[in-house]
Amino acid sequence: MTAQSTNLEYLPSDLERELLPHHVAVIMDGNGRWAKRRGLPRIMGHKRGTDILKDLLRCCKDWGIKVLTVYAFSTENWGRPQEEVDFLMTLFQRVLRQELREMLKENVRIGFVGNLKALPSALQAEIGRSMKETKDNRGIDFNVATNYGGRQEIIQACQAIAEKVDKGLIQPHEIDEATFEHHLYTARHCDPDLIIRTSGEMRLSNFLLWQAAYSEIYFTDTLWPDFDRSEFRKALLAYQQRDRRFGKV
Ligand code: IPE
Ligand code: IPE
Ligand code: MG
Repeated sequence: MTAQSTNLEYLPSDLERELLPHHVAVIMDGNGRWAKRRGLPRIMGHKRGTDILKDLLRCCKDWGIKVLTVYAFSTENWGRPQEEVDFLMTLFQRVLRQELREMLKENVRIGFVGNLKALPSALQAEIGRSMKETKDNRGIDFNVATNYGGRQEIIQACQAIAEKVDKGLIQPHEIDEATFEHHLYTARHCDPDLIIRTSGEMRLSNFLLWQAAYSEIYFTDTLWPDFDRSEFRKALLAYQQRDRRFGKV
């Protein structure tokens, strides 16, 4: 092994820069099980999960990934016990506040996808502040899916388009894929090239349903709090072996 392939601060030598995904999306799953296996409360898994996310973000920047989108809270996650939901909302708010300075220093532009209006107002305020302060950063685009549901996203896009039709701003026959994408939360970004899901579950759980049409999907049994740089390298290695045909031959 060369020195470069063992030093995971740099792009490992077995990864080819030209074959890296532009946009990586991650379903960060398995926090609860990680904690349970250690006899800890589930919330400890969430706490450890945010530390691993910080390192993944730094890693993406170090290795030259341009867009990282992570699934932090789904529209279905409101159905969890109230204490867990409250803990998560407070955790998101605290981490955002604590990490803003670091994100500015690291040239991270943060964005959020999801129905943000239903989030606690203190969290909404922190979200607004972090987006405003990092909007000119160009090092990496970091999107956090918070109160995100793929079906809800599609419905709100339909409503927005229907309103425009109602006002005569657009004709029904003019609605095409580009119009539709323009009304999704992810309008600014290309579709994810690679979607990673940790913890052994093999489903999308309502994540980026429209955008995942041609994404490569990588499943691993590793639980999210254990998903370190060497695990990410494995996912990228698997990705660069894939043959993306997009329906052609
Ligand atoms: C993912 O971990 C984090 C969130 C959904 C917020 P889980 O909390 O789903 O962990 P498991 O799947 O129960 O182990
Ligand atoms: C998906 O994980 C949502 C997030 C990672 C935020 P879940 O743990 O909520 O998904 P299911 O319930 O296993 O499908
Ligand atoms: Mg889960």
